[in-house]
Amino acid sequence: MLIAGNWKMAKGPSEAAAFCRALREADLPDDVDAVVCPPFTSLAEAVQTLAGTEIGVFAQNCHWEREGAFTGEVSAPMLRELGVYGTIVGHSERRQWFGETDETVAKRAGAALADGLHVIACVGETEAEREAGETEAVLRRQTAVLEADDNLVVAYEPVWAIGTGKTATPEMAHEAHEVIKSVLDVPVLYGGSVKPDNAAELLAQGAVDGALVGGASLDVDSFVAICRAASHS
Ligand code: PGA
Repeated sequence: MLIAGNWKMAKGPSEAAAFCRALREADLPDDVDAVVCPPFTSLAEAVQTLAGTEIGVFAQNCHWEREGAFTGEVSAPMLRELGVYGTIVGHSERRQWFGETDETVAKRAGAALADGLHVIACVGETEAEREAGETEAVLRRQTAVLEADDNLVVAYEPVWAIGTGKTATPEMAHEAHEVIKSVLDVPVLYGGSVKPDNAAELLAQGAVDGALVGGASLDVDSFVAICRAASHS
């Protein structure tokens, strides 16, 4: 089981260090891989504070070129140099607000993997797409552009469940994960309003291999509670 905390645009370096110090002290279950995904400016602090632990530090994005004229972007070798273990790509907020497409997501994933980073690639349908009965087609399209890799994990995040307090039912998550796995044989995380009190039920589904957690990962006790709920499921 992999539990990844996506901090989004929260926690500068000092808050990140405080969180990571507390996480170091927490009693995390051995059968759960815990990962934190701080914003770029807090990555160095997180890597240093978590050095010598099994807790991974991931970025939230990564460009497909190694260097060049791409203002505002960061590349895989730069992340590697910091000691970052992996990166998220294709989060729906990137797709919605920053023009990310299936093609750019695939390029980012491919380049990060080629440079030795682990990747969490996000897919998921909008509410309108679900209502129109397009969920399966959208998931197939978004997943088909990715290439299987031992270091690739997909996160199924229905856009209507992100930050809304609405979650997919465990059955909906299971069905979506089966669709993704039929296209690409990789572990699939569920994301979208995962909290300590709904994590166990979602993670008990056979096709659910972990969670990508936003809001509930910002508080160390709540993040640790989700990691504990994931243990033995
Ligand atoms: P949420 O975010 O847990 O706050 O819904 C999940 C995500 O966007 O990764």
